[in-house]
Amino acid sequence: MTGPPMEPITTLYSSNLASYGESKLTGYVVFVAILAASGGLLFGYDLGVTGGVESMESFQKQFFPSVYEAEQDGTDSSPYCTYNSAALQFFTSVLFLAGLLASPVAGWTTKRFGRLVSMAVAAISFLIGSGLNAGAQNLAMLYVGRIFLGIGIGFANSSVPLYLSETAPFKYRGALNQLFQLSTTIGILVAQLINYGIRDWEEGWRLSLGLAAVPALILLIGSIVLPESPNSLCERNHEQKAKEILQKLRGTADVDWEMRDIIEATVLSKKVTMRQSWRMMLKRRYLPQFITTLLIPLFQQLTGINAIMFYVPVLFRSLGKGAESALLNTVIVGAVNVVATLVAIFTVDRLGRIFWFIEGGLQMLVSMIVTAVVLAVEFSKYSDGILPTGTAIGVLVVICVFVAAFAWSWGPLGWLVPSEIQTLETRAAGMSSAVFINFLLSFIIGQTFVSMLCAMEWGVFLFFAGWVLIMTLFVFFFVPETRGVPVEKVQVLFAKHKIWKKVMGEHAEDVILENKHGMMARKAEAIEGGVDGKKAQDDSDSDMDGLIEERPSSVWQQTYHVPNPYSPMGSEGSGIEGALSSRASQMVSGGVEIQPMDSVVEEDTTQKSDSGKDR
Ligand code: BGC
Repeated sequence: MTGPPMEPITTLYSSNLASYGESKLTGYVVFVAILAASGGLLFGYDLGVTGGVESMESFQKQFFPSVYEAEQDGTDSSPYCTYNSAALQFFTSVLFLAGLLASPVAGWTTKRFGRLVSMAVAAISFLIGSGLNAGAQNLAMLYVGRIFLGIGIGFANSSVPLYLSETAPFKYRGALNQLFQLSTTIGILVAQLINYGIRDWEEGWRLSLGLAAVPALILLIGSIVLPESPNSLCERNHEQKAKEILQKLRGTADVDWEMRDIIEATVLSKKVTMRQSWRMMLKRRYLPQFITTLLIPLFQQLTGINAIMFYVPVLFRSLGKGAESALLNTVIVGAVNVVATLVAIFTVDRLGRIFWFIEGGLQMLVSMIVTAVVLAVEFSKYSDGILPTGTAIGVLVVICVFVAAFAWSWGPLGWLVPSEIQTLETRAAGMSSAVFINFLLSFIIGQTFVSMLCAMEWGVFLFFAGWVLIMTLFVFFFVPETRGVPVEKVQVLFAKHKIWKKVMGEHAEDVILENKHGMMARKAEAIEGGVDGKKAQDDSDSDMDGLIEERPSSVWQQTYHVPNPYSPMGSEGSGIEGALSSRASQMVSGGVEIQPMDSVVEEDTTQKSDSGKDR
């Protein structure tokens, strides 16, 4: 799964954020985040190293002699077709196939045994893969090595983004979560720099492929010395240990409210199984979110970014430039990718998601069209397929404009938004389907781009431009702004949306009403807890109108056969008071009544036997 900034349940769920203890960005949490983000380096390194290695002559000679000959010869085929080799494309894409297949196992391992176990599996698998690749004597070794790297990516991407979100203080969660995307782009750049540095070495590709072991070693050390995430410990009934780690991460003993939310969320996540989560997501009520969750990663890949990322050195060689300048151009593209990702990290919460989606989309659209036109016009002028330097620089600039646009829009948002639009009930299935689609499309593009380039020539860039237009229109008409919207509210955005509400049918109204009751409940909770009650009251007052109106919620009842916890007709009375007391004293999830949180926390800290062995 590609750098999937996957938000943990508590990230968006927490209804008591204002009451969390003093939530500092401690040195310890920064250390934890940086070490864990090496998982992104690992992923990025792989993305970045591939194309450069494929463009190296010694590598081609040994493993893909037909490509080498086509390049040396250069006369009998179109410049667009030099690298058209299914074997070469498989080298690129098999990684994603392996990652795709490993992801469900990785998801299960992450939940069952913890985030650190998955990180360790990722690192070990990566070490094996980089060893096999560096020492490869034949194509089979090369492919098997890539399969191990793919498994590593499947595990790293299922655990690291989640871990980053779970250990970060809520105020910095967005930024620390995006650290994964940033470290992915840094990994890409480092790989490109190494490829450039060793370009004149005979068999230098062995070093390029072997150095993937460095981020893997860092991650392995990380998986040994890092603390397990509090959420994962709670999931496995080690609440006391979780609390101690949370206190250390936050630099304060005052973590009771956050612990409460973590426990509440993990109780829910334990009750809603993956199967239930899938079943719910396919129902009309959740369909708009499901469709959006599938389309965003699909569109992210259909921007053509990985055609550029995997094949930019190959592309520049195809454009008639020598190996050295092709690799240098690639480094420039990689650097632009990093810098533009930083722009996104610092502005995405201020300017919002939709602004960047649209701006990035338009910028990508223009640059793809310009690339197509330049190539169409210029290649027809130069029959030897060698573009003049000025034109080649022009193409480089346009590709940089494209990559910058991607890096501050669909790059980070392609992961962030699917994680933000999930409800708690559908989160598990939602995120794994996003990851699945991302890997699947990465595989398909890795496997087909060079053949598409050969068959469609410059038209391939128009193909991607067409998709960019479609996705930009999709965002404009269908994706609600999620900046600063808590998870409880996200479904309301869809329920009020003029098109999606039709898809949801009568459920749209249910969602809106339930949300109002939920707001009331939070007010009750805050008043009861005596914490920042005024703020909660202010927040919820605007949602009070019309609360008396009754309508039982169908989905909760149908799916779990339980009374709607937000219904004013709940077991403890009717109307506003009923809603308040009902929600304040119980929360129902997955058909199981959850005890009032105070008693849960108390019970956890006093009665539960906690082995505390779980780091
Ligand atoms: C995408 C990758 C891409 C990378 C480039 C990620 O968000 O999922 O497929 O290679 O960005 O920086």
